[in-house]
Amino acid sequence: MNVLGIETTCDETATAIVAPGEDGRGLIRANEVLSQIAEHAAYGGVVPEIAARAHVEVLDRLIARALDTAGMRLADLDGIAVAAGPGLIGGVLIGLVTAKTLSLVARKPLVAVNHLEAHALTARLTDGLSFPYLLLLASGGHTQLVAVKGVGEYVRLGTTIDDAIGEAFDKVAKLLGLGYPGGPEVERMAEAGDPERFALPRPMLGRREANFSLSGLKTALRIEAERIAPLAERDVADLCASFQAAVVDVVVDRLRVALRAFGPVAGHPTALVAAGGVSANGAIRRALAAQAGQAGLAFVAPPLALCGDNGAMIAWAGLERLRLGLVDDLTAPARARWPFAEAPAA
Ligand code: KG4
Ligand code: ZN
Repeated sequence: MNVLGIETTCDETATAIVAPGEDGRGLIRANEVLSQIAEHAAYGGVVPEIAARAHVEVLDRLIARALDTAGMRLADLDGIAVAAGPGLIGGVLIGLVTAKTLSLVARKPLVAVNHLEAHALTARLTDGLSFPYLLLLASGGHTQLVAVKGVGEYVRLGTTIDDAIGEAFDKVAKLLGLGYPGGPEVERMAEAGDPERFALPRPMLGRREANFSLSGLKTALRIEAERIAPLAERDVADLCASFQAAVVDVVVDRLRVALRAFGPVAGHPTALVAAGGVSANGAIRRALAAQAGQAGLAFVAPPLALCGDNGAMIAWAGLERLRLGLVDDLTAPARARWPFAEAPAA
């Protein structure tokens, strides 16, 4: 079973071909990605119109390249998976229309994949993990703690009430004059910084629900930065380190709450899993690994290339759905918003 995956929901155009591998894992036969970072950098963030145009320009070539790399033709595929949302609607439409066209012409089943679900299932692609597991999904647009019980069975244990974690990293980077996307820049600067120089708040610490709030932390950082301006490189490094340390403390505390809530909702977890662009952060990964160890759980985080947006995760989620007979037809809608996890039953 070979599934083509197409990802165009944000600022990466990505395609991949994935098949079932050994021990429940997936086998990545091709994984192509073209980042638009250069096109958006001048604006300090993703410009939807620029993103959509860039997807149109490269998507067909990127599909051809994935087929080429895998040594396959369209006829060899068993399904076509596409991220149908959530995301920037212009880009989503381009991926979806392309996938529908290929599905029609090549007579292959279409699978409309939720981009967040694809992040959530990546640990099964890379590690063959079995259900249920506790997922921290943290990206530029989303921060969620989720009990992953099965394909299509996701219970939301916590979410952010304001900024996503990646968004907070991006805003802090912008504030400090660092590049875009901000996460990797802040992490790089934090390496040389003193995490204890600024006493930044740890919002929501100790709260009984596993929710996040990050805008207060970002504001506190801005006030410190303005207080000591103009900023020397040392100051920026210390601000980054102090910010990252606060985020790590908050994540660990919120996860502790989510771990307690997990049992009644889903039983005993097989692992603690990190996914989404923020899971590339070394400090967060180390803290999560330590916390998982203390709880007697395995810790699974995708290799860096599969943390951010990619086609392999879309292909894999498509494969998982296809195996269960969950296919879509040509009426599948493009969705700017598409929640994937449900609140626990009261
Ligand atoms: O999942 P992703 O590639 O795209 C979506 O938002 O769907 O996540 C991108 C986000 C950006 O906000 C970026 O700044 C953040 O992930 N990010 C990081 C790191 N690498 C990427 N945040 C913190 N530390 C990093 N090393
Ligand atoms: Zn993403």
